[in-house]
Amino acid sequence: MRRRARSHVDYAFEAIGVPTTVRQAVCITRKGGSGWRAPAEGWRGAVGDPVRTFEQRDRGGVDSATVDLDLKSWRNVQDPFPLYAWLRDHDPVHWSKSLNAWVITRYADVVRVFDRPETFASDRFRKIDERYASRRPAVQAVAEVLGHWLVFRDPPDHDRLRGLLQSSFTPKQLESSRDRVQTTVDTLLDRVVARGTMDFISELAFPLPATVIAGLMGVPETDLVRIKAWSDRLAAYLGGAVDERDNFVEASAGVAALVDYFHALLRERERGPQDDLINLMLRAEHGGEHLTRDEVVANCVLLLFAGHETTTNLLGNGLFHLLRHPPQAALLQAHPELLHGAVEELLRYDGPVPATVKIATDDIPWHGRTIGRGDMVIPCLASANRDPRQFPDPDTLDVRRQPERHLAFAAGMHFCLGAWLARLEARIVLGTLFRRLPSLALGPAQPRWKPMLFLRGLESLPLVWARDERSEP
Ligand code: HEM
Repeated sequence: MRRRARSHVDYAFEAIGVPTTVRQAVCITRKGGSGWRAPAEGWRGAVGDPVRTFEQRDRGGVDSATVDLDLKSWRNVQDPFPLYAWLRDHDPVHWSKSLNAWVITRYADVVRVFDRPETFASDRFRKIDERYASRRPAVQAVAEVLGHWLVFRDPPDHDRLRGLLQSSFTPKQLESSRDRVQTTVDTLLDRVVARGTMDFISELAFPLPATVIAGLMGVPETDLVRIKAWSDRLAAYLGGAVDERDNFVEASAGVAALVDYFHALLRERERGPQDDLINLMLRAEHGGEHLTRDEVVANCVLLLFAGHETTTNLLGNGLFHLLRHPPQAALLQAHPELLHGAVEELLRYDGPVPATVKIATDDIPWHGRTIGRGDMVIPCLASANRDPRQFPDPDTLDVRRQPERHLAFAAGMHFCLGAWLARLEARIVLGTLFRRLPSLALGPAQPRWKPMLFLRGLESLPLVWARDERSEP
């Protein structure tokens, strides 16, 4: 029998703990064989097609003959919202065979996961059940670094790290970013404006947040290209990529390269201190505690990664949906004062982090199911944000909505540390684009979503506009 090629998800699950035997069983018992139904198998991947394929569930008794329950399938990655709606109504605590995890889809339940960190732990590298633990050296190497990340720690370590990082990352510290963001947006637009066309992702949505976070951290802009290459490898792993590339070893190489890079930068900073985030982190003190050197390096990698990858996707997803809804874009153009609420609505409607992973620390009976101690639990932020129990008419994009308490930045103790910065960048980019390029529209190509589960973003976003329009900053 031919061996199935290993996918990113195999490797990602290995890192967060799913054993080979379970992954193989999942693969063999799944209807349709291979875990990833690619466009070459007959589907062209249009955004918003209805759900048509099917799969039987093995836990629970609801007949699901017309629903494709595989969150990893091409169709569900491209447009997961019909499946989320079905799960919220029929199976709100859903056992996903292909993810080997419980998927939580209702707003109130997702909030409950974030509100109970003692029951739903974030420290996947230590709390995960022993039956999942992997001893592969590459996995261990990644876990050693990512295990220091604030987002993967539980109390009391989380509180100590958060206190230390937060003191370096206040809106006051970040206020200096406002001018940097505006200048960078204008410079990037100046480069393309006479052309009448651009790929928004590679020409603005990536370079802007990368330049801003690099500036804050004192990372030279000239290093951004190689940093992007390392960071992309990490993104495939952290984002739960579901294509067939075999690059876990690359992902761990990406982490190793980033760690080496920041160790070298730290040595430089110690010789000649500068006024940047790295220095603030080195000096940070909270309740008499300091960050260790390994913690500073690991959290530099986190800030750099989180600081650009997610914001790139907020800009891309947000602009894409606005331009798909011309009356909404026109409303914003006519009323820039709506920008504040519009960015919140875009975060709610299709945010960059659709889901995250927690670990159950106890047996939890819930909606007729029992989550087992040590099981992986996936609170699905994107589904919670489309739950009609919380947001009336949730599938309608409405820039006037003011979506109170959306969950795009999570909730509770792990609420995103960079929310302020991401919002600032999005408001400045959208405001500037609509002011400088009033005829902006989607290009003819159909954009595709990156094949990932935990990060949602477009591979590219071609845009067009009239070349002769007023385009000064
Ligand atoms: C639109 C952009 C962003 C989105 C949607 C987003 C989303 C999130 C989410 C959902 C979490 C919680 C994850 C979990 O509990 O598993 C989180 C945590 C975090 N984010 Fe963001 N993020 C964004 C931008 C940023 C930026 C720009 C930075 C830094 C420059 C950043 C830094 C962090 C950090 C440090 C944490 C960990 C907080 C903690 O565990 O206490 N994020 N983010």
